[in-house]
Amino acid sequence: MSKILVTGGTGYIGSHTVVELLNAGYTPVIIDNLSNSNIGILNQIEKITGVRPEFHQIDLNDTQKVNTFVEENTDITGIIHFAAYKAVGESVQQPLKYYSNNFFSLLNVLNAYAEKPINLVFSSSCTVYGQPDVLPVTEAAPVKKAESPYGNTKQIAEEILAETAKAASNYNFIALRYFNPVGAHETALIGELPIGVPQNLVPFITQTAIGKRDHLTVFGADYDTPDGSCIRDYIHVVDLAKAHVAAIKLLEKGNPNGNYDVFNIGTGNGYSVLEAIKAFENASGKPLNYQVGPRRDGDIIQVWGDVTKSEKELGWKAALGIDEMMASSWAWEQYLKENPLS
Ligand code: WQD
Repeated sequence: MSKILVTGGTGYIGSHTVVELLNAGYTPVIIDNLSNSNIGILNQIEKITGVRPEFHQIDLNDTQKVNTFVEENTDITGIIHFAAYKAVGESVQQPLKYYSNNFFSLLNVLNAYAEKPINLVFSSSCTVYGQPDVLPVTEAAPVKKAESPYGNTKQIAEEILAETAKAASNYNFIALRYFNPVGAHETALIGELPIGVPQNLVPFITQTAIGKRDHLTVFGADYDTPDGSCIRDYIHVVDLAKAHVAAIKLLEKGNPNGNYDVFNIGTGNGYSVLEAIKAFENASGKPLNYQVGPRRDGDIIQVWGDVTKSEKELGWKAALGIDEMMASSWAWEQYLKENPLS
């Protein structure tokens, strides 16, 4: 079955996608520089699937190494490109680190496939919408000025793909605009592995509940929303992983929309921070120690996706709800306490 290159494949979403590729009969090949992930994830994937995926520790910024890999692996028919830095706050502090890494890694992969037929699924983000004027937000909504260098790298990367596809028919691209990935595999053997203090809500919730953090701070409860806290479209990472398999299949079949396309990958439902905390407490049976604090710079107030296009044209729809997202996140945090990976 088709060999699929997964860049950033030992990361959070990458590792879950490797599992779903194996479940779908594909042969994933991982490239990762391990700058934000742990090689122990390969053992975990093997425990889940019985297969230890082929792994190459390569930094995609190394043009020569990328070209050599592509020359030596001519049987790769598709690529899922996750490899990028993704912390919004860090990107504001270190913009050059984000622009250099996120663009050079993508450009090296694209240039290595110049004039070679290749299908590529790109990890994009709903952050390109900024604060949408209309909710739920559709793929036709205008892309707004990014609030962070991280968001800007996603917007510009989409433009690079769109313009490259227009100029060269050997490239076939799909960009998946993720909403908020959360949760962990049902086996609790893989999940989100934040290095240092978690930037995102759900890992901070589970680390507070397990006792690694004293309390969670809710960044503002005075917004113009029903309960005052921000609203997001949380999507289970396994549903998100399956969307990548669906995108590879669509590219293999031939996308009637052409060789560049974009899909929203969310559930279509919005949950506030306080609702997410309540869902965690219900799923874990543990009251959460949280306080309401000041707003976080750069936060948009509310966003959730219109996922009609993904259902109709990608043939994918999220199946897991907020309860499973929270229950699986908690099970993973408990697993990590007994089996530290990093
Ligand atoms: C969610 C909500 C916070 C932490 C970003 C990127 C997106 C994706 C996910 C990479 C917000 C609130 C959070 C906390 C809180 N990036 N919060 N206390 O900012 O929506 O999305 O991360 O994969 O592309 O834009 O996610 O989880 O940081 O925040 O109250 O300790 O939780 O204010 O309302 P965000 P998040």
